[in-house]
Amino acid sequence: MSATEAVVFEPLVFRNQDENAERLSSMQEEILQLKKERNAVLLAHNYQIEPIQRIADYVGDSLGLSYQAADTDAEVIVFCGVHFMAETAKILSPDKTVVLPDLEAGCSLSDSCPADKLAAYKEENPGVYVVAYVNCSAAVKALCDVVCTSGNAVKIIEQVPADREILFVPDQNLGQWVTDQTGRSMRLWPGSCYAHVLFTKQSIERCRLQHPYAPVVAHPECVRTVRELADEVCSTEKMVSFCKDHPSDAFIVLTETGMMHRLVRELPEKTFVAGPTDHCACNDCRFMKRNTVEKLRDALRDLHPVIEIPEDIRARAQLPIERMLEWS
Ligand code: 13P
Ligand code: SF4
Repeated sequence: MSATEAVVFEPLVFRNQDENAERLSSMQEEILQLKKERNAVLLAHNYQIEPIQRIADYVGDSLGLSYQAADTDAEVIVFCGVHFMAETAKILSPDKTVVLPDLEAGCSLSDSCPADKLAAYKEENPGVYVVAYVNCSAAVKALCDVVCTSGNAVKIIEQVPADREILFVPDQNLGQWVTDQTGRSMRLWPGSCYAHVLFTKQSIERCRLQHPYAPVVAHPECVRTVRELADEVCSTEKMVSFCKDHPSDAFIVLTETGMMHRLVRELPEKTFVAGPTDHCACNDCRFMKRNTVEKLRDALRDLHPVIEIPEDIRARAQLPIERMLEWS
């Protein structure tokens, strides 16, 4: 094959194979038992592996998970997602023990905006109104005015006082999409999600040739040329309602592969084609995939590793998250 020849992947199609009829493994049963003993709630992001999603108390997007973390009566929150998500849970529920099965489950987007760089920017640009996508560290949240998620970003930006200049951190693609939706121009921090930017116009056009009637649903972290090909651009939670309400029985979904498990479980009569990149038939986030069933069992058993945040940062980070929950 020549270097210029396009790679055409056999698309990965997810359909209901009655996964839920399968018995739980002994380790999954052990986790359910430990969960009761520890008075724990198990929150899982839509990108987690299927065996974790299946035993979670709640599976959802960042916004839904924030609400769950703020509302729970459990003593322990076991967070199957990435570090910034577990930190958000700890910010909202400081008296609870928050456990993340693998502390190395980070996020390239969060890493692209270090708190010291943002602090320096604010010093040079006093008066700027900082809106932070939730995919950032507690220290960055502590420096911002309001937080948003992909599920409420448009709504949040519409409520920022019109006379304030906005700096949107850390995702330039989400920020650009919000500007397209609202007409509100913003300064964009030059960050991005390493996984979502792997979808390209070419990789999706090739996939469409194989599934010409399937609507394309894309996450706003995708680049503009990819978003422009989509029938719908939305958060992972909205993907479920969009596919449910749409008459089509097949969809091309441009986000992390774990999302397909949630879609198949909730919409068993429909099929979902995982969007390919130029190098792979699907798109796994290497950080999300660090959590395994075994690490989850160990974390619940040992109540380790826990999320700790210095109290001054936690308290400052709580205000912009609470503002977001009020404005949503
Ligand atoms: P959602 O809030 O849409 O679930 O997105 C989170 C995320 O990390 C996307 O990459
Ligand atoms: Fe971060 Fe991207 Fe992974 Fe989401 S998919 S957790 S934005 S690296």
